[in-house]
This record gives sequence, structure tokens and C-alpha cells, in this order.
Amino acid sequence: MTDRARASSGLEIQGLHAFYGQSHVLRGVDLSVKPGQLVAILGRNGAGKSTLIKSIMGLIKKCSGQIRLGDVDLLGRPADQIARMGLAWVPEDRGIFASLTVAENLRLPPILASDAPDEAALFALFPALHERLNTPGTRLSGGEQQMLALARMLRTGARTLLLDEPTEGLAPLIVAQIGEIIAQLKRSGYTLLLVEQNLQWIAPLADHLYVLEQGRIVDECASEDFEGRLPSLIAHLGL
Ligand SMILES: Nc1ncnc2c1ncn2[C@@H]1O[C@H](COP(=O)(O)OP(=O)(O)OP(=O)(O)O)[C@@H](O)[C@H]1O
Ligand SMILES: [Mg+2]
Repeated sequence: MTDRARASSGLEIQGLHAFYGQSHVLRGVDLSVKPGQLVAILGRNGAGKSTLIKSIMGLIKKCSGQIRLGDVDLLGRPADQIARMGLAWVPEDRGIFASLTVAENLRLPPILASDAPDEAALFALFPALHERLNTPGTRLSGGEQQMLALARMLRTGARTLLLDEPTEGLAPLIVAQIGEIIAQLKRSGYTLLLVEQNLQWIAPLADHLYVLEQGRIVDECASEDFEGRLPSLIAHLGL
């Protein structure tokens, strides 16, 4: 993938509330991802991290507040319309279809931008996938599934990317490879919002960190302050 910096849109979230029926999960979330930034949301299990990502993608029925992608208000729009605006996500379970091959999984979602990366560019970023094009989803390791999920998201041409715990359950070597890919996406001008529990891994990559606890942002920190603030972030996360 070239390092050309095609414009990508930032995200501005204000006063976001989200519910599952009567259960009030997000309780007034404010956060900002400027164009070209990599922002991470940290938080313990059940804090509401995945709910936040799904709310942005238009997948939670009962939400209030404001979610803006660039100049556009997303709240209340159907998920397919949001995807066509250049926003894409990798879910926590990676969403790989076991009965389909790597190639079939990769080509499943539509290409939504005329300058989306072609397959040669994707295989340059993920060489292991090229070698395994005919392998069924069931035969992929966790790391290969995550790479396939990332490639499939990039292939749509989306430039604002939401990743839900991309390193969960993966070996350190694969986690490091994913870190290199994410750093390259940032250099190429993508805007990234990551949910993560691995603070040591994400801190050197991120421009800004937020800590989510029981549906609220309880702490935040810009990259220039990470070093001094690390102890309080660790305390908040109970690490
Ligand atoms: N579909 C659902 N219906 C009802 N409650 C849900 C649903 N999905 C999640 N919840 C609840 O909402 C809260 C937040 O869940 P969420 O999955 O957003 O947390 P998370 O921070 O992503 O956790 P984890 O680190 O385990 O992935 C939890 O209490 C969870 O039980
Ligand atoms: Mg989650």
C-alpha cells in the first residue's frame, strides 16, 4: 500500500447513550478522533467498548446523542448507509465465514470507493493471505483470521476504521505484526479507532487514549503525556 495520504474523515462523539432494551450501557460518551489519528479505547470486560463501536456502525437500535463522521451526522442512519460513507469495522469475533475460503471471505463485501486498494496492494500488506487464498476459513489460525478481517475491511475502500480488540488471544509475534500493519495504515492517512485491552502494545501506536468504565469515559490522555500518566491508566484498568 502506498503512503499517499488520501483524506479520511474524523469522528466526533458527544453525549452518546446506548441501550439494550431497559439496560443502559453507554452513559454519555464524549470522544474525538481527528482525521489521520489513531485513538484507542481501553476498558475492562463489560465496560461497553464493543457497544460503542457497534453504535458508531449503526448496529444498536436504541441510541441518543451525536456521532459525526466529518460533517455528517450518523445517528439514526441505517448501517448500510454508514458503510457507504467510508466507515468500516472488524468485529471482536472477526466475522470470518468458516465454510468459505480466504478468497471468498475477502471478496464478500462490496467495494464502495473507486480508489479502494486493489488485491495486489492488499497482498503486499498481507503476504500470508495470498499464499492461502484457497484455504477454508476453518483452517485459519487466529492471527490469519485477523489479517483476513483487516484485508476484507480495507478492500471496501473505507478510510475510517474501527477495530474491536484486534490482538485478543493472539501470540506476541502476530501482535507485533498487526502493530506494524496498523502503523502503516496510519502513515497512509487512515483514521483509526481501536478498542484494546493491551495497553503496552497500543500506547506507542496511539495519539490519544480513553478509558471507558461502566459506559463512561473516566480518563483520557494524549500521547505526549503517556509516560507520566501510565501508572494512573494502569490503575484504572486494574492491570
Ligand atoms: N446484545 C446484548 N443484549 C444485552 N446486553 C448486552 C448485549 N451485548 C452486550 N450487553 C451488555 O452490555 C454491557 C457492555 O458490553 P460490551 O460487549 O459493549 O462490553 P465490552 O467492553 O466490549 O466487553 P469485552 O471486553 O468483554 O468485549 C455488558 O454488561 C454486556 O453484558
Ligand atoms: Mg467487547
